[in-house]
Amino acid sequence: MRRRARWRYTFQSMSCRLKAWGNFMIDQQATEVRRKRYDRIAPFYDLMELINERRMRPWREKLWAQVPPVRVLEVGVGTGKNFEHHPKGAGMTGIDFSPRMLEHARRHAAELRDPIELRQMDAQAIEFPDASFDAAVATCVFCSVPDPVQGLREVKRVVKPGGRIFLMEHMRHSNPIIGAVMDVLTPLMRLMGPDINRRTLDNIRAAGLEIEHVEDLGMGGIFKLTVARVPHQN
Ligand SMILES: C[S@@+](CC[C@H](N)C(=O)[O-])C[C@H]1O[C@@H](n2cnc3c(N)ncnc32)[C@H](O)[C@@H]1O
Repeated sequence: MRRRARWRYTFQSMSCRLKAWGNFMIDQQATEVRRKRYDRIAPFYDLMELINERRMRPWREKLWAQVPPVRVLEVGVGTGKNFEHHPKGAGMTGIDFSPRMLEHARRHAAELRDPIELRQMDAQAIEFPDASFDAAVATCVFCSVPDPVQGLREVKRVVKPGGRIFLMEHMRHSNPIIGAVMDVLTPLMRLMGPDINRRTLDNIRAAGLEIEHVEDLGMGGIFKLTVARVPHQN
């Protein structure tokens, strides 16, 4: 019995040390630059996205129609554009690293019938214990998380084994010429927040998630809805 307790203690302290090392590896400066960028655009974000949102709304509906009413983590909630689509009766938690974006999300959340817990948090270092959620969702987030693979690894850690992660993300076009144009435009687009040339499907796999389903939503396959699963064996 004592030996088992000692092993458990050794394992827990090793996993804490690994977690601390993972956080140490996060590029804090790059994260701060991006966070400030979102803080700056927060007051204008909904206005900037007004036209885009007409196209995105049906995609959001399609994604959320697949999310069961379980314990769900929404990563990078922004101003709360997904809140009205949250499944009724779900236990919703939302995180975002930008306090200004969260201010808007909080105002939005106050109008909702179902409560949502909102926390300021970096997706690259999620402050919830392992397997805290049954599912997770992110829409247009992993284009701007400084280290997307680390962010996806963290989402994988906090979702229980077998749980699903639903992503609506834009990514680099598979056509090499269009992809190259996106590479050239990325530094300019980054000034407003996202990188438009991320190879997000590769990043999802690199984080150790299993891709179950990918659907092209629009813009010639730039926007995709991806359903990934946390493997049972890590
Ligand atoms: C393009 S906005 C999308 C917001 C919302 N998901 C939507 O669909 O309208 C990206 C959001 O991700 C957040 N974000 C980016 N990197 C993050 C990180 N490392 N941790 C937490 N939130 C992050 C930004 O603050 C911003 O609110």
